[in-house]
Amino acid sequence: MRTIIEPFRIKSVEPIRQTTPAEREGFLKAAGYNLFQIPASDILIDLLTDSGTSAMSTEQWAAIMRGDESYAGSVSFYRLKAAVQDLTGFQNVIPTHQGRAAERILFSTVCKPGHIVPNNTHFDTTRANIEFTGAKAVDLPLPEACDTQARIPFKGNMDVAALARLIEAEGAKKIPLVMVTVTNNSGGGQPVSMANLEAVRAITAKHGIPFYLDACRFAENAYFIQQGEAAFSTWTPKQIAQRMFSLADGCTFSAKKDAFANIGGFLCTNNDLLAAQEKDLLILTEGFPTYGGLAGRDLDAIAVGLEEVLHPDYLQYRIASTAYLGRHIADHGVPIVEPPGGHAIYIDAGRMLPHIPRNQFPGQSLGVELYRHAGVRSVEIGSVMFGENARHELLRLAIPRRVYTQSHID
Ligand code: F0G
Repeated sequence: MRTIIEPFRIKSVEPIRQTTPAEREGFLKAAGYNLFQIPASDILIDLLTDSGTSAMSTEQWAAIMRGDESYAGSVSFYRLKAAVQDLTGFQNVIPTHQGRAAERILFSTVCKPGHIVPNNTHFDTTRANIEFTGAKAVDLPLPEACDTQARIPFKGNMDVAALARLIEAEGAKKIPLVMVTVTNNSGGGQPVSMANLEAVRAITAKHGIPFYLDACRFAENAYFIQQGEAAFSTWTPKQIAQRMFSLADGCTFSAKKDAFANIGGFLCTNNDLLAAQEKDLLILTEGFPTYGGLAGRDLDAIAVGLEEVLHPDYLQYRIASTAYLGRHIADHGVPIVEPPGGHAIYIDAGRMLPHIPRNQFPGQSLGVELYRHAGVRSVEIGSVMFGENARHELLRLAIPRRVYTQSHID
């Protein structure tokens, strides 16, 4: 593959340091082989997560200086609200300190014991926040997605036929909302097609069930739609994103992903009554509805990031560099979840290490070995993360946005 020209130049740098294999052995022992317990200063290249780890732009740092720290009615909030409404069209925009706070507020408002919330694949915090209310979180990925090696486009789609069967069997009353996660993080960072979102919209509308997006990586998903669905090939990523949001009744969002922010999130809904209940809950734990647990400057950084993340040059670089890592790993015979996703490459550790049984956590073992060998940190997405709900034993190499260059990846 040719050289990828990163579409930015670097103005501020952060040193990273090499460690010796013997030192790393000691750090691993001290950490109990838990990579979350290793101090970041002992990591060479940190691919634990793409969440909150992005490099902000000069425009974001400039916006931070413009942040208005008023308790109520902060001008920063109105700038954020305008940016979110321009993108999503949702009437109510409720800022939160990160994505899971939006999830907690949404699910504790709409879920009761006995309820069921379907998703293409729930992220772990989403599942946990649903289960904490006594409701049940159900994953409905495509049956073909079970095969990590199948190279099918839009492998993150929801199984719409399974959704229809679930609604038929359980009744719409038990389902307070249907959620689709774009891109499908726990399912390999795979995108969801517009056709699939439209099909979910049609079924939920027929049964009067609200449809929500877990929109953390909406821009990466929009780019995949532009590249992969002929009807959208001439649309801009922003137009595609607007269309995606227009199909939904609300969303949860972690600004730590596709907004390049180091902290932040929001919850949106078109239902004014629900928004009023959510804001009451917000005040209990997050703060007043014009800041929701964030500083005014954070709101401004998110507003700028939401616009920047949709630049075609950025998205082309982003998806090309993730695929670059994926192809290099796969070309050396290591099975990855195919095709490469948007924000991360997932190694199928169960397949790579068939001699390690599930109860000895192949993904975790591989993550430890990768750190021991190279000082690279990754994260297990398998039985350690999801317990008995794990479908695969994966090791995720997530790529922070605009942080590492092609030579780091090499
Ligand atoms: N939904 C998805 C799909 C996510 O990937 C995450 C976070 C959240 C919700 C929760 O957002 O962290 O801001 O509270 N994912 C990170 C990760 C932690 O590493 O994939 P949050």
